[in-house]
Amino acid sequence: MTQVTQVRQAPDKTRAQIASKTLRRDPWWRQPAVTAAFLGAAVIYLTWASLVNADYFYRPYISPLYSPCLVTTCATGAGFRWIPWLSALTPAILIIGGPMGFRLTCYYYRKAYYRAFWQSPTACAVREPHAKYTGETRLPLILQNVHRYFFYIALIFNVILTADAVLAFRNHAGQWGHMGLGTLILVVNAALLWVYSLSCHACRHITGGRLKHFSRHPVRYKAWTLVSKLNARHMEFAWISLGFVCLTDLYIRLVASGVLTDPRFF
Ligand code: FES
Repeated sequence: MTQVTQVRQAPDKTRAQIASKTLRRDPWWRQPAVTAAFLGAAVIYLTWASLVNADYFYRPYISPLYSPCLVTTCATGAGFRWIPWLSALTPAILIIGGPMGFRLTCYYYRKAYYRAFWQSPTACAVREPHAKYTGETRLPLILQNVHRYFFYIALIFNVILTADAVLAFRNHAGQWGHMGLGTLILVVNAALLWVYSLSCHACRHITGGRLKHFSRHPVRYKAWTLVSKLNARHMEFAWISLGFVCLTDLYIRLVASGVLTDPRFF
């Protein structure tokens, strides 16, 4: 009888030596190229809009980039104007860390910008240019794990922007009963931000993670089921909400600068 001996080998630490960059023949470069173009355009616009420090408020509308407006240089009526010693910063730069950190550490955006900008890798089965791969196990990328905390910060911003949308039903004199196109845009913007946040992977874990028996937690199970449905479309919500934040800022900017007149429904 022949005895079969199984020899276990340690995983190979070197990469497969393939001469060509990839054996793929489909247009694998298209998706990262489109991502780079749109993400790059959004980052450039949002950076400019956060630094320009003008035309972000037209009563009762405030740009989502500048809310909450905390510094004393905020336009009159635009915010709390609590922080005098940071007046050198624009109101948007002061608060940008919250929403930016949330998007920067988002699981979907990580995949998008790793592929589009860092080529790590550009696409599946395409050789990356880097000699080493350590994933997110070391500094600085290990910090991506703070995403779950940014989720809670993002919820605070959502509440504030929802309040801005509700306050946009008041007219210039502060009386309720106004609705213009700007009101509608602020309402849709807030709704999209909620959908994007609630479809977050961290939110899915918070609602249904670490449970052994869903049957003993019917409420959490219901919440997890709903969040899971949203989560399946997280990428779409990430793009749509990002685009709509830019659009909302642009609309208010154009109205505030007098280029557009805000149509009123009532
Ligand atoms: S995974 Fe995208 S926002 Fe949390």
